[in-house]
Amino acid sequence: MTLPSLSRIAVLASGRGSNLQCLLDGIAAGTLPAQIAGVFSDRPDAAALLKVAPAQRWACTPNQFADRAAFDRALADAVAASQPDWIVCAGYMRILGTAFVERFHGRLVNIHPSLLPRHKGLHTHARALEAGDTEHGASVHFVVPELDAGSVIAQAPVPVQAGDSADTLAQRVLQVEHPLLLATVRLLVSGRIAERQGQVLLDGQPLFKPLHLDSAGTLSRLS
Ligand code: GAR
Repeated sequence: MTLPSLSRIAVLASGRGSNLQCLLDGIAAGTLPAQIAGVFSDRPDAAALLKVAPAQRWACTPNQFADRAAFDRALADAVAASQPDWIVCAGYMRILGTAFVERFHGRLVNIHPSLLPRHKGLHTHARALEAGDTEHGASVHFVVPELDAGSVIAQAPVPVQAGDSADTLAQRVLQVEHPLLLATVRLLVSGRIAERQGQVLLDGQPLFKPLHLDSAGTLSRLS
């Protein structure tokens, strides 16, 4: 009997890699039936790279290339060579060009530290505080060429507390990012999630609101 091969996940990361670590922990614990195809970075000094074996690392600085498109092409070729089923941006802080996004359309996702569509882009925690939001959180969404605008698969809310600074809020959001990413990637590799013409499908049915992470780390539909 041949066992089905494990889904291959390419991870793009620019920094410390705690979200990558949670995927690695899930794989090690047997709760995420997948393997990391490679870790890809625009920052050769990214701590995330050190979490996998040297043969699984790829890193180049964009200024080694003639232009943005050339860097993106090299990155896309390296990602494709790792034969991923899914590509997960986990703290990848460089905007991906349209050619990259279209090449991996439908299997490229990103974790973003806000309840999208609120607070696309950078400094999301400070902006949530400035806006007086009472709730903040994290989202996992399909990537489209427009920044942080792709359809959202799942979200985890975090209450904003009196006296929160951007740092304290960021720490609490990070604590929900990890179970959110793990649970969402588990759904992706199980083949239950797809994207069709900007619509997320769960088990073939349209998902009109993002899945919601509860305190037990389970994703469910919001009614
Ligand atoms: C995470 O908070 C992630 O949501 C955010 O960067 C951090 C990376 O942490 N991503 C973005 O802001 C993307 N726009 P990590 O390196 O410890 O996973």
